Amino acid sequence: MDYKKYISVVDDFPLKGIRFKDITTLMQDGEAYAKAVDDIADYAKDLNIDVIVGPEARGFIVGCPVAYKLGLGFVPVRKDGKLPREVVKVSYGLEYGKDVLTMHKDSIKPGQRVLITDDLLATGGTIGATIQLVEELGGVVAGIAFMIELTYLDGREKLSGYDIFTLTQY
Ligand code: PRP
Repeated sequence: MDYKKYISVVDDFPLKGIRFKDITTLMQDGEAYAKAVDDIADYAKDLNIDVIVGPEARGFIVGCPVAYKLGLGFVPVRKDGKLPREVVKVSYGLEYGKDVLTMHKDSIKPGQRVLITDDLLATGGTIGATIQLVEELGGVVAGIAFMIELTYLDGREKLSGYDIFTLTQY
């Protein structure tokens, strides 16, 4: 599928000079959204995944339907102060800004194989931090799937050594 036909590019959002890749137009189209989920599930099906992990908010949009399709659980990674029980935390840099991500301490068992999902690979900061959380809990990152990769930001290099799958690249 030509995913670019369904993704909107919005100039100067949320800051001047940023060309925002908006997946809401893809999600609004049932066929395109289903195909995106199917393609990621196909990528994951030979990786022996035990659980799917995704950062808020758009990592949920990608990861939850894939988890349902594969009959797996989904673990949310959330910004600081959102999860109610004991968490592990990591601070990370964004394409624009800085933040803290957290994950429930009991969400992954040591040795479990994890698929990480998100809408977009930009600098790789968000997923780098997510990997740190998963590995701190003893999880094994078996694969990472994105809808979109911004190749000019070299996020893939930051995540070198990990298996990365992307539906489309800019
Ligand atoms: C965006 C996007 C990715 C991340 C990519 O999330 O959904 O998670 O940035 O950038 P990076 O590779 O440079 O880390 P954002 O933090 O804006 O959160 P949101 O999905 O809650 O809007």
